[in-house]
Amino acid sequence: MSTWSPTSWKTKPITQDVAYEDPKELEDVVTALSRLPPLVTSWEVERLRELLAEAQQGRRFLLQGGDCAESLFDCRPDIITNRQKIILQMSLVLIHGGHRPVIRVGRIAGQYAKPRSKPTEVRGGVELPSYFGDLVNRPEFTPEARRADPRLMLACYHHAAMTLNFVRSLSDGGFADVHHPEYWDLSFFRNAAVPSELREEYEQTTRKLGEALRFMEALGERKVAELTRVDSFTSHEGLNLHYESAQTRQVPWRKGWYDLTTHLPWIGERTRAPDGAHLEFFRGIRNPVGVKLGPSVSPENAVRLAEQLNPDNEPGKLVFITRMGAQRVQDALPPVVEALRGAGRLVLWVCDPMHGNTVSTSSGIKTRSFNDVLREVESSFDVHERLGSYLGGVHFELTGEDVTECVGGAVGITEQDLERNYATLCDPRLNYRQALEMSFHIARRMSRLPRVPRL
Ligand code: PEP
Ligand code: CO
Repeated sequence: MSTWSPTSWKTKPITQDVAYEDPKELEDVVTALSRLPPLVTSWEVERLRELLAEAQQGRRFLLQGGDCAESLFDCRPDIITNRQKIILQMSLVLIHGGHRPVIRVGRIAGQYAKPRSKPTEVRGGVELPSYFGDLVNRPEFTPEARRADPRLMLACYHHAAMTLNFVRSLSDGGFADVHHPEYWDLSFFRNAAVPSELREEYEQTTRKLGEALRFMEALGERKVAELTRVDSFTSHEGLNLHYESAQTRQVPWRKGWYDLTTHLPWIGERTRAPDGAHLEFFRGIRNPVGVKLGPSVSPENAVRLAEQLNPDNEPGKLVFITRMGAQRVQDALPPVVEALRGAGRLVLWVCDPMHGNTVSTSSGIKTRSFNDVLREVESSFDVHERLGSYLGGVHFELTGEDVTECVGGAVGITEQDLERNYATLCDPRLNYRQALEMSFHIARRMSRLPRVPRL
């Protein structure tokens, strides 16, 4: 393979490229970014790799979640706290049901760039560039807002730093109520539409979880603190390679290059061309790397991606995030899993049940149904169980807010409800209650997994 450098991606064809108008303005921003301190550190990245390697052995489970598109406006204490809280609550439910520790990774502090299916958008006969995320332009439909502005990369870097600073300093104390599941807002399970056996199961799980946490508390503060310590692992789609490569550097005493904008960058479904710029950039860094795989991926292509991104087949390096859709997963996933196994390639299998299940309502609103999302997770568990592989994680678009973007769940959101609080800048997210309910379902499915030896 040819020599790699943080900018060798510029020699390759690029998809979803951003049309910046002024090269000098872009260069100045990239230079400024490259001089600023990193957002994460190489030892955190290496630590995450160790944890992911253990997850590949079936000893841990990954919970990845957050907004589809993070926004600068939502860099607010209540929104950040609520999102951390729902991820923490979900993880406790999963630890309880799955009998293994959970690695929590937010889609946060950098999830500002969005791939779009169309480069422009037409409204009322006016055509403007699409909104590509706050890293690139602004959502308002005006020519000024939609201009690709490189200075937004600096604004996003600053907001990522503020988000991360707040997330890191949210101490155990800030989440004391999380230790008491009986205080979680679970009233929606009492909805008449929830079958009584399910309701009883939720109540029983909550009670048992509360007892387990109290028991641990009685044994010593440290244990509960360990269980509920808010890991500050971050992830985002590594779409804008100017931003990623500006913060990619070597560090003293370690070999290789680190992309220090985030711990776990991933390559999106639309940018994983084997000869493309994104593959070129991500093959050169030490970070663990995720790759989204939709139903169009061929088994050969998936093996090739693994070979390119992880030529030495190192553990903890590669996370394959499958997003086949509830309808397709049973037929599209098995050949890919079998091909990787046949080639002896190490990956962590993670299910993203959101992106293959987006639909439009009759009035044109993008939504996802709770049942489809759940069905894809459960089918993915089934496929991996049948093939003797391990589904080692789940990836959700979710928020800690009471939005109405996805339909269904015990809380019973209907198509009519979508207009009430549809706040996402891009794809529909599970709200607080839907996300928590989802975790109970996953925990129940995980309780069937074989027990693993203690770490
Ligand atoms: C996303 O995760 O928001 C996304 C765009 O996903 P995908 O690349 O799988 O379509
Ligand atoms: Co999305």
